[in-house]
Amino acid sequence: MKKIICDDPISAAEAAADIFETQIKEKPKTVLGLSTGSTPIGLYNELVSRSKAGKIDFSNVKTFNLDEYYPIKTGHKQSYSSFMNEHLFSKTKFSNTRLLSGEASNPHDECAKFDAEIIAAGGIDLQLLGLGRNGHIGFNEPAVSYPIGSNLVDLTEDTLDANSRFFSSDETQPTQALTMGIGSIFNARQILLLITGEGKADITKKLFDGVLHTDVPACFLLLHPNVTVILDKAAAGKL
Ligand code: GLP
Repeated sequence: MKKIICDDPISAAEAAADIFETQIKEKPKTVLGLSTGSTPIGLYNELVSRSKAGKIDFSNVKTFNLDEYYPIKTGHKQSYSSFMNEHLFSKTKFSNTRLLSGEASNPHDECAKFDAEIIAAGGIDLQLLGLGRNGHIGFNEPAVSYPIGSNLVDLTEDTLDANSRFFSSDETQPTQALTMGIGSIFNARQILLLITGEGKADITKKLFDGVLHTDVPACFLLLHPNVTVILDKAAAGKL
């Protein structure tokens, strides 16, 4: 696991954007795995700027997103599909994007179809991840065992609490989500884990303490051959 510590979230976003730029220059038909949450917003802003400046061309790129609430309407303000449109897809030339559908009548079939589509696309070249404060990646919550493929999960109290800030008092926060499985994530050829903010310092310390904690889903990344972790100083503060 390669670790890059940056001064602040802006330089972390730039370092992450450099990895995206290099990947897409080397392979214009790159398959990207994308994530949501507050962490990648700076990176997405940087990618939009570089796209507008002609440094990155997303027109041949295909994307798969990590997760989506379930159930949720696709156009719902708090859906991850809306998040991606707002922060990235509507701002530049993405034409081939795929999120797990929070409207699927059969979530298990939807997950199987999603995984098959990733395989049909040739697999993910570069997977972006954020880190939940409980160590989750995507919505793979701390557990004793983990489904390998994409799946429907019950969100933990900690995650519901962490994400409640995005929902107003009159909005119902879904208690379940569809997520890429640990195995689907692990199949990516390259993984970029972006961690910023003091609130992630404790879980970051646990990730790097030299132990594979099976109740910290991000620890599985320690076994992957091509993972880069980009942190800001605040997230790296307890290393
Ligand atoms: C969310 C998402 C994750 C994300 C994480 C961190 O619940 N499901 O994919 O990486 O939690 O979010 P944030 O960046 O807002 O801290």
